[in-house]
Parts: sequence; C-alpha cells; structure tokens
Amino acid sequence: MVKFALVAALLALLVSPLAVSASLPAPNVELTAGFPDSPFGNVVNGQRNKLVVSFSNKDTVSYTVSILSGVLVNPNNFTQIVRNLTALRYDTPIGTGETVDIPFSFHSEIAPQDLGLVVLVDFLDANGNSHRAVGFNSTVTIVDPPTSIFDLQLLFLYVVLAGVLGGIGYLIQQAFFGGAAKGKKKAKKVVEPSIGAAGAVDEKTTAYDESWIPDGHIKKSPVRQSPRLRNKKQ
Ligand SMILES: *[C@@H]1O[C@H](CO)[C@@H](O)[C@H](O)[C@H]1NC(C)=O
Ligand SMILES: *[C@@H]1O[C@H](CO)[C@@H](O)[C@H](O)[C@H]1NC(C)=O
Ligand SMILES: *[C@@H]1O[C@H](CO)[C@@H](O)[C@H](O)[C@H]1NC(C)=O
Repeated sequence: MVKFALVAALLALLVSPLAVSASLPAPNVELTAGFPDSPFGNVVNGQRNKLVVSFSNKDTVSYTVSILSGVLVNPNNFTQIVRNLTALRYDTPIGTGETVDIPFSFHSEIAPQDLGLVVLVDFLDANGNSHRAVGFNSTVTIVDPPTSIFDLQLLFLYVVLAGVLGGIGYLIQQAFFGGAAKGKKKAKKVVEPSIGAAGAVDEKTTAYDESWIPDGHIKKSPVRQSPRLRNKKQ
C-alpha cells in the first residue's frame, strides 16, 4: 500500500506540469475572418479562395501563428468532414496588443452547394506550448466560376461559324436543287390553267399527270385510234 501511494505521488508529480499547463487560462486572443476578394463570401470552384483571418493578441504575452488548417463540413453536422483543405504553415509572431491579418488560400472542386467551413489556427506561446483557436466557422456557398469572356468569345465564334456553314449549305442547295425547284413551280403554273385550255399543255406535262386533262380529251384518243384499228382490220 505504501509503495502504491509512493508511485501514485510520483506519478502525480510527473503529471502535474501537464495538468498545470492544461489548466492555464485560455490565451486572450480574438479572431475574425472574411473573404476580402469575394463580396458575397462565396467559395468559387477552380480558383484560389482567399480567407483572411485577423488575429488580435489581447494577451500579456506574445504568440506565434504556426498552422492554419481547414475543413469543409456537412452544414447540418459540423463534425462530418466533406473535404480536408490543405493545411498551411506559418511562422508569424504576434506581439502583445497586435492584430495581424493571416491569409489562408485554398482551392475547391466540389459540386455547388452550401457547406460548413471551419478554419482552425494553431499558435505557440513563448514556451512552445501549442494553442488552437477557431479562425472561421460558418456556412459558405460553393459556386462554379462565372462564364469568362473567353467562353463568350468562343460562343460568338460558334455562332459565326454556324452562320457561314448555313450560308454555304444554302448556296449548294440553290446550285444543285434550286433549278429543279423552280422547274417544278413553273410546271405547276402551266398545268393549272390547262384545266380550261388543254391545248396549251405540252406532252411531258400530260404524261406526269393525266388527271388535269379534261375527260373529253382522254376519251378522244381511243376515238382517234379507232380509225387506225379499223384500217388494220380492213
Ligand atoms: C454527425 O456526423 C457524425 C460523423 O459522421 C456522426 O457520428 C453523427 O451521428 C452525426 N450526427 C447527426 C446528428 O447526424
Ligand atoms: C480528413 O482528414 C482526416 C485526418 O487528417 C481523415 O481522418 C479524414 O478521413 C479526412 N476526410 C476526408 C473527407 O478526406
Ligand atoms: C462551429 O459552429 C457549429 C455550429 O454552427 C458548432 O456546432 C461547432 O462546434 C463549431 N465548431 C467549432 C470548431 O467551433
């Protein structure tokens, strides 16, 4: 029992420095953050998004910022990580009473949606103890980049090309089939009055459409043939 008590006392002694450091008052720092380049605070896919964390040291000791890390999380459950962002290393001292802006740039390639963004700031005190503070913790909207001028120019080029191809197609159509189309139209125009004046219709036209020929005309041919048949018979 005595031995155990001794060991326990030794352990307590060994652990005590850690216990003391853990119970140190939290660093008196204030962090705020924003997207200076993104007026709506949106995260844009495929480009650099710059979050700037303002670190205000209101403490009586100086600190050194060492790491900024970020995660995109489920907006309904901030413990559920959707994407880990690349952590960035710093060695930025922040003296007593100072406020320093720390840029945290990251890229996103994720379907447009609302996600939680949590950025944590790790910083060291003069004794090398690491502390952690929340730099940003809020819902952000992931958006696709706006259509660029280059895309608009490409679209314009496609429209012009389509117009040129359409024009060429029209010319080819006119050259090869335009005449035929006109001929058909002419034939129709000739055929129509032929109802009244069958004599004006040429043989080709009557061959295409005999229905235009008045009944009297069609009945005539057997009558005309009949003398020949009679001649043969005779
Ligand atoms: C939040 O996500 C964590 C990890 O994915 C999960 O264990 C937990 O059950 C979730 N909580 C809710 C309320 O959905
Ligand atoms: C994010 O990183 C943590 C640990 O670094 C890892 O456990 C987790 O699987 C990662 N999540 C994703 C979505 O990459
Ligand atoms: C971020 O905010 C959410 C609520 O909006 C909270 O549940 C979560 O604990 C916060 N995370 C951190 C690291 O402070």
